[in-house]
Amino acid sequence: MSQKLQAPRGTRDFYPDEMRLRRWLFDHFEEVARRYGFEQIDAPIVEHEELFTRKAGEEIVEQLYHFELHDRRLALRPEMTPSLARMVLARSGSLRMPLRWFSLPQCWRYERMTRGRKREHYQWNMDIWGEPDVTAEAELIAAACDLLDRVAIPRGDVKIRINNRKLLEQTLAQSVLRERPERFAPLCVVIDKIDKIGPDAVLELLTDPGGEVALPPEDGRFVVDWLGLRDLGDALSSGPAHSSGGAELSRLFELLDAYGIADRVVFDASVVRGLAYYTGVVFEAFDTAGELRAICGGGRYDNLLETLGGRHTPAVGFGLGDVVIGELLADRNLLPDCTRELDALVFPFGETERRAAVGVATALRKQGLAVDLVLNEARLKRVLSDADHNGARRVYLLGPDELARGEVLVRDLQSGEQHTEPLAEPDGEPPHN
Ligand code: HAM
Repeated sequence: MSQKLQAPRGTRDFYPDEMRLRRWLFDHFEEVARRYGFEQIDAPIVEHEELFTRKAGEEIVEQLYHFELHDRRLALRPEMTPSLARMVLARSGSLRMPLRWFSLPQCWRYERMTRGRKREHYQWNMDIWGEPDVTAEAELIAAACDLLDRVAIPRGDVKIRINNRKLLEQTLAQSVLRERPERFAPLCVVIDKIDKIGPDAVLELLTDPGGEVALPPEDGRFVVDWLGLRDLGDALSSGPAHSSGGAELSRLFELLDAYGIADRVVFDASVVRGLAYYTGVVFEAFDTAGELRAICGGGRYDNLLETLGGRHTPAVGFGLGDVVIGELLADRNLLPDCTRELDALVFPFGETERRAAVGVATALRKQGLAVDLVLNEARLKRVLSDADHNGARRVYLLGPDELARGEVLVRDLQSGEQHTEPLAEPDGEPPHN
């Protein structure tokens, strides 16, 4: 097939079957957001490229779909957070904080494709602005867990790994980064690759004299050893005394216990996230079988508004993509059977009955039913087989005899029972459903 007739690699067409599943998932996203008091927002899929280009060596910047149009450099959004920050900035004088906003953007990244990684994906974003306390992190992590429950992923199949960049930064500020604090963001970008490339390759990148972090070998080793910590107590005792980052984590784990989700979260010093703007608590949800990439990722980004020229404004949020959770559900046979919903099919035997059939369909639609009106002269056998295929509950049959009697024949496709109903006068009562 010629290339132009294929969807670009890494993108998806959504036929009705896939669209019904997407609608099912999005309904759950929206319902959880509603239950947590979040309001929906959206923004253009195309932004000025500059909004996304940061200089910390992040993968996401290299993966931009960007183009020039009438001397403007534009890009498809690879994520929602910069657009969200732009929206907050534009109204910063009039917005009443804290804000709880959610969105369902399609995001574009020119990725090297592996399982669960595509070049476009939809991402459920939940963000809280204006709240500096980790009460906001706890609320968000609880919402992510509720989503996992709603789509019936067995508890225990997914764990949320939590860390605090501040704890790492405060630890390194006393040692490895004492003379070079500005290297912390690029250091996080390198560390984030650990799951993909392993600790030895991370060490190599951290200590590469030509790289952005360029640590001496013993300092690189110190960082990699730190990343191996999985016990918060160990991290607190090996980190600086009275680290605010450590205290935040302890409080967060206490709060998560109050939500009843302490068993679903773990401390993990290797989680730092690959986006440069995170400043505090960071978290990622993974399948415990370790087969897939992160299902969800987020954290605190208190400085993002300032980097765009605004006032310091605390913010925290996460993004949960449709692709990875879809794979997880498919692997476990948990995707629901979303069949087409069609209440009725109306069939005029010929053109003579069409006017009355239009009247029946219109009346049923006014009652809120999903109605398919047969648009051409078809055979009854074919119509009944189509109705069955499309999952219609009832067929309204209108032949010359029914029309002569001022009736319509209603057949229930599940029970096979039939009855007649009077045709409505042109502006009279509609038939019963
Ligand atoms: P992220 O970790 O880059 O974070 O993406 C969040 C989630 O989106 C990932 O965990 C993954 O499920 C999904 N995702 C990302 N890239 C792809 C891809 N190429 N194919 C399929 N799924 C993908 C962010 O984007 C942050 N802006 C999230 C955030 C919101 N932080 C604060 N607020």
